Amino acid sequence: MAKQVEIKYTQLFIDNEFVDAVSGRKFSTINPANGEVIAEISEGDKADVDKAVDAAKRAFARNSKWRKMDPYDRGQLMHKLADLITRDLDYIATLETRDNGKTYASAVGDIEAGIACLRYYAGWCDKIQGNTIPTGDTYVTLTRREPIGVVGQIIPWNYPFLMLIWKWGPALATGCTLILKPAEQTPLTALYTAALAKEAGFPAGVINVIPGYGPTAGAAIAEHSEIHKVAFTGSTEVGHAIMAAAAKSNLKRVSLELGGKSPLVIFDDVDVKEAAEIAHDAIFVNHGQCCCAGSRTFVHSKIYDEFVKHAKQLALAKKVGDPFDSKIDQGPQIDQEQLNKIMDLINSGKQQGAVVEVGGNRIGETGYFVQPTIFSNVTDDMRIAKEEIFGPVQTILKFDTMDEVIERANRTNYGLASGIITKDINKALEFAQAIESGSVWVNCYDAITSQAPFGGFKQSGIGRELGEEGLNEYLEIKTISIKVTKNN
Ligand code: NAI
Ligand code: MG
Repeated sequence: MAKQVEIKYTQLFIDNEFVDAVSGRKFSTINPANGEVIAEISEGDKADVDKAVDAAKRAFARNSKWRKMDPYDRGQLMHKLADLITRDLDYIATLETRDNGKTYASAVGDIEAGIACLRYYAGWCDKIQGNTIPTGDTYVTLTRREPIGVVGQIIPWNYPFLMLIWKWGPALATGCTLILKPAEQTPLTALYTAALAKEAGFPAGVINVIPGYGPTAGAAIAEHSEIHKVAFTGSTEVGHAIMAAAAKSNLKRVSLELGGKSPLVIFDDVDVKEAAEIAHDAIFVNHGQCCCAGSRTFVHSKIYDEFVKHAKQLALAKKVGDPFDSKIDQGPQIDQEQLNKIMDLINSGKQQGAVVEVGGNRIGETGYFVQPTIFSNVTDDMRIAKEEIFGPVQTILKFDTMDEVIERANRTNYGLASGIITKDINKALEFAQAIESGSVWVNCYDAITSQAPFGGFKQSGIGRELGEEGLNEYLEIKTISIKVTKNN
């Protein structure tokens, strides 16, 4: 089933070299489509994070090559990396599909989006400006926006390559040096991209990649007293742990991009078939493994039955199987743990009285495939309406009025994204103003671009990624006041 692909890098990347872990330990990365071991990867932990931090500190030291580099040249280096990724796009996408199970077409889309994001941030390098501030005639006051320094970045498995670029883009543009820990499920594209960074000419120590597990390598990053910022994407539970570790160690800056239970609200003035298509993609994209998945589909009671009919047809038409087969729409879920979580939540939906319209079962015994599943008659108190499923499961709820749906949509600890489908601009604006979420998509979903900020309200996160806002997470502001001595 798996397309063959040569695995070139399996060791840690520290100071521009691939090296074994200090412990000598390795872990297996597997192909979720068939459970086969793809490669044995060096398993980093605290000792390796310490080495990487030393390298990143040297690279960030005063008068280092990186610090002295003209910001324009820093941008050219980032463009060079984007060129190399473009050269090897097919290889990287193949690696990603093998390691993650997402369809090859969607892996290509992720790499292309990553290239665009890297080039977007490359353009920022020489445009990060401070201010001159009026403070009377005794002082000239100005600000500089300086890199925070050595930063740690911990990313999940659902968009391994794209999340790496979302982290590297602003860190490199601002002139920080970094230690990235990819998810243990998907280390391959991060290691390959590290090799490309070396080929592009990034100085040693600017970029370091330490594959390994969360409680060891990840925790070592979060606790490290010489890492000055940690950027994390993953579960809300681990987000709490990262923040606690930052508080206990050195008060490092924290940015978190966490889970969601995002509402997509569909009013009765719409083309129901089109709305069902938007809602389908909102939840089923990337097999439901998406932080901003439209996982609560609220449908107006007047069109509810018709909507469910269309939603069913779309789910039934979805082809699940080998992610390298171009006719396939959905590959496997990432691993046994996620499969178990999804099946547990599907079973809870059945037990709590939701109606299974389509699917509801695992497919086969090999690989982690789940039937595209739709629940109707879902109520707010059910687990499937409250917990992040992170799988191909659409939950369709019914509503009658704007006030009611806003109140119900906001009744969650999450607040990452939301959407509304209506032809009435006033309804769209009322909803957009009242909803508690970092993104609001009107008559569309997942309209994410490199230029616009993305992140969560409430327990969906802290800080923003992408856009100019994303840079701020990697910058300190320094105020310089110069006394003006009058000559007479
Ligand atoms: P996770 O939050 O455990 O893993 C994400 C990253 O954090 C991985 O690199 C992992 O190694 C690391 N990590 C884990 N424990 C850590 C610790 N104590 N200190 C530092 N780093 C640590 O997520 P997991 O277990 O893969 O998935 C669990 C659930 O989290 C999913 O079912 C989904 O609901 C949610 N999730 C949300 C994501 C998002 O994009 N916001 C991405 C992945 C998962
Ligand atoms: Mg975990």
